[in-house]
Amino acid sequence: MKNFLVESFKDRYGSAPEVYSSSPGRINIIGEHTDYNMGYVLPSAIDLHVAFLASRRADGMVRVWSDSFRQERSFSLRMEIDSKQGCWIDYIMGVYWILRKRGASPGGIDAYVWGNIPLGSGLSSSAAYEVSIVNALDTLFELNLSSLEMAKLAQKAENEFVGVNCGLMDQFISVFGKKNNAIFLDCETLEFEYVPLPLEAEGLGILVYDTGVSRDLATSAYNTRREEADGALERLRRKGVRTFKDITRPLLEESKDDLGETFYKRARHVVTENGRVEQAVSALRRKDFDELGRLLFLSHESLRDDYQVSCPELDLLYECGKRFPSCLGARMTGAGFGGSGIALLRKEALPSFKKRLSGEAQKMGFVRPSFYDVAIGDGARIRSGK
Ligand code: GLA
Repeated sequence: MKNFLVESFKDRYGSAPEVYSSSPGRINIIGEHTDYNMGYVLPSAIDLHVAFLASRRADGMVRVWSDSFRQERSFSLRMEIDSKQGCWIDYIMGVYWILRKRGASPGGIDAYVWGNIPLGSGLSSSAAYEVSIVNALDTLFELNLSSLEMAKLAQKAENEFVGVNCGLMDQFISVFGKKNNAIFLDCETLEFEYVPLPLEAEGLGILVYDTGVSRDLATSAYNTRREEADGALERLRRKGVRTFKDITRPLLEESKDDLGETFYKRARHVVTENGRVEQAVSALRRKDFDELGRLLFLSHESLRDDYQVSCPELDLLYECGKRFPSCLGARMTGAGFGGSGIALLRKEALPSFKKRLSGEAQKMGFVRPSFYDVAIGDGARIRSGK
């Protein structure tokens, strides 16, 4: 793929790019809506990615061709970057904006962006895109950013410029992902460990089920969930806890009346999900994939009933998974309200499960889903474009 993209860059701009930056999308194995709640997550990078090819130019213009949108957009660095264009270029503007705010001054570029992560599918195409841009600018303009700084800047560009108040999980895994591994990340301390996920060797596979459901409401509902979780924690702080990780089940039950139903449910999800991530890490260390699968189902139930971020299409994945003998576990992945889910299956059963699920979706009159057999891949890479 690299050669083809380098040739396309040359056709457009007349010479080879100076850098070829690529960053992966992700699935989150377990630990949903826990990152911004300073809890635990267990995501993996996948073998779908965004490639950002770029060369410096001297006149302060940023000119970018998007292969997905078949469109060129540009902006000038001579002017303040203060308003969005309302499309894919905003991510690039956002990265320049945040870098400038931090005192760095990357110059103009000619760039070409390509990706095979389905957009809006909950597989973090935007985080992969942001990370690929930061990484390219870091190399081109010798910004000397650490890997962690890159992940944080990519997240800040999305929070403060694009306007989506996401946590750090997606950008983090896009930077730090490792083939055949998941990352057990504590989103409070940012300490992390790689946890082997040898699916192939164990005769297992992960199927991504993209519901195709548009996530129009996702941003506002996501922000509401964040506020509700913050509200719940605020009340629980009166009992001397710092974060959800300090809350035990007895303390939670004791606080039920004080929290009220909504806050109680949101808190229960975060507290139990943190516990499930820890259990999933131990299960993986013992290579107990049945236990991992059981935890995936439980996570879905909690997201559906307590955090209330599922939808009928994602619930169908869970229900089909429960009834399908070779499915060890299944759940929604990412923010929810549409987007994608994952199923952990015996490898040989992937085609029949796909068939079953798409048949059921059709019977229900749902939008036609898409499926991806993903492999667990490496994190962001930067190479010379020559
Ligand atoms: C989105 C956000 C992440 C995380 C998940 C839910 O993917 O970008 O930061 O909050 O939702 O776990």
